[in-house]
Amino acid sequence: MSLPKLLLSNGRRIPVLGYGLGTANYGRDSSDAVVLALRQGYLHLDGAEAYANDESIRIGLERSGVSRKDIFYTTKCSSKDPRAALLKSLKTLNLEYVDLYLLHSPEYFEEIGLAKAWEMCEEMQTEGLCKSIGVSNFRVKDLKKLAETAKVTPVINQIEFHPYLYKETKPLLDYCKEHAITIAAWGPLTPLTNAKNGPVDVTVAEIAKSTGYTPGQVLLKWCQQVTGGVVLTTSSKASRLQEQMVPFISMPDLTDAQVEAIIENGKSKHFRTYMPHMDE
Ligand SMILES: NC(=O)c1ccc[n+]([C@@H]2O[C@H](COP(=O)([O-])OP(=O)(O)OC[C@H]3O[C@@H](n4cnc5c(N)ncnc54)[C@H](OP(=O)(O)O)[C@@H]3O)[C@@H](O)[C@H]2O)c1
Repeated sequence: MSLPKLLLSNGRRIPVLGYGLGTANYGRDSSDAVVLALRQGYLHLDGAEAYANDESIRIGLERSGVSRKDIFYTTKCSSKDPRAALLKSLKTLNLEYVDLYLLHSPEYFEEIGLAKAWEMCEEMQTEGLCKSIGVSNFRVKDLKKLAETAKVTPVINQIEFHPYLYKETKPLLDYCKEHAITIAAWGPLTPLTNAKNGPVDVTVAEIAKSTGYTPGQVLLKWCQQVTGGVVLTTSSKASRLQEQMVPFISMPDLTDAQVEAIIENGKSKHFRTYMPHMDE
């Protein structure tokens, strides 16, 4: 069974679950990971200039045998010239276009200015080098600043999101919803990885036990239900990749009470992996 797709504000569709080519794949030969992910049915790949693995991703894309038209490929710009960065990535990846191009974080564009960086993205979208454009790690104030000059509204804001960031992120979720900006959530499994032994563990374990799903599946489902958006995860293991698809294909929604219980327990801890500016 294939992963469902979400409709973006520009009418394009994005698979609801994406395979991350950062974190565990950061700076590494990711060719095997790309082949594994694509063959397991993850047709949405999340790359970035900063991950420094485009060359190996190209090899993986070619080796996988999966048709380009079936893949949703995202990359992100972290250098000061979005045009130069995208052209370089396209060449290295041997792609004619990416499906989604994101400004990786606002501070990377202080020198060139957000307005200019975004204008370049808009132009490249018109030229067909990227089908959709968006942002990552943008706060409400960054989105408001962008809106002052933007002709195109970002389709996505890719941010860290899990129960230990709900409280701080809620105003941003509300702003994005109001402006039809889809959330793409990274780090959804943080309570099981970088922030173990936290206050949601018991609740998540109880929900997992009562529903017959795993704690990882409960966290992925929670993340998707709360944001209504896209979820990004990664794994080096085929069995886990299969496990992580289930919440998006056949797992019933968590009840409102289950969603709320995770929110309430998560509020007593704050944990952010990267991008401390998001707490400003
Ligand atoms: N825009 C940004 O600034 C930004 C920042 C960070 C990440 N991202 C993107 O988001 C992607 C996903 O981020 P993430 O790695 O933080 O995702 P995550 O889904 O929170 O964590 C994935 C990691 O958790 C492990 N894992 C999976 N299931 C598990 C389980 N049930 N119990 C314990 N560990 C488990 C995996 O290791 P195994 O291999 O052992 O399964 C993998 O290393 C990145 O690759 C990147 O593309 C974007």
